[in-house]
Amino acid sequence: MRFLFSICVFNLMVCLAPLSWSQETSAPEGISREAALPNRHRFVAQDILKYCKPEKGFWVDLGAGRGQLTIPLIEAAENPVVMVDPDVEAMVQGLRIAREKELEDRLFAVVGVAESLPFPDDSVDLLVSRGSIFFWDDPVKGLQEVYRVLRPGAPAYIGGGAGSGFPQEAAEELVRMRVEQLEGADAARWRRFVDLRCPKQMDQWAAQAELPRYTVMGKGAISADDPRVGQGVWLLFHKQQNKK
Ligand SMILES: C[S@@+](CC[C@H](N)C(=O)[O-])C[C@H]1O[C@@H](n2cnc3c(N)ncnc32)[C@H](O)[C@@H]1O
Repeated sequence: MRFLFSICVFNLMVCLAPLSWSQETSAPEGISREAALPNRHRFVAQDILKYCKPEKGFWVDLGAGRGQLTIPLIEAAENPVVMVDPDVEAMVQGLRIAREKELEDRLFAVVGVAESLPFPDDSVDLLVSRGSIFFWDDPVKGLQEVYRVLRPGAPAYIGGGAGSGFPQEAAEELVRMRVEQLEGADAARWRRFVDLRCPKQMDQWAAQAELPRYTVMGKGAISADDPRVGQGVWLLFHKQQNKK
């Protein structure tokens, strides 16, 4: 049976990985309007299970924040998940929410950054990350780190979006809002937001990280018409199996 990483008593491990500032320090103005739409994370959790078909074991949510995706994933899969994020306070909030839901025995937190993951090679059975790569200082180094820590054959699902089961009408509303924001007061930051969340950018990062095989799914921040993922963009890859 696979060994799940030792979990500390207080559920919060502070690792010595160097913390760094993100490349984009805050979301564009108006992003809170999007919060009025149905919650996207549980749809993403369903897509993760569908496309990654992960083995039970050591699962990581990278750039987990308050556990917005982590908690629905635990609920859907009943496998413990370790959150990794440089933001301690956000993860403490996530741990509190999990405790209220009586999920505290399945949610754990490690302070760290994508560019220096505090895990050994070949150790992680599933790594997911939603809405975070766009904030990493060095997405290419982050992807290399993800590949390093994955167990041979294990999947990673990294990107941003709402999930294929997200109601079509809500996805279209989300896209409408973003198109509108591209003309608004904070247009430059919205342009950057949209440009980073596009298939071409994901493909470029994956190629620069020299991932041996990967799939870019979805059409980006202002499209809702990929039936696999609905709105958003995702990078799916598996670590190659060891050659015998
Ligand atoms: C928009 S939030 C996404 C939160 C959550 N995953 C979600 O789906 O709603 C982006 C998160 O990425 C984290 N982050 C920023 N730079 C990072 C890095 N270099 N490595 C890992 N996480 C990072 C931030 O602290 C923040 O919690």
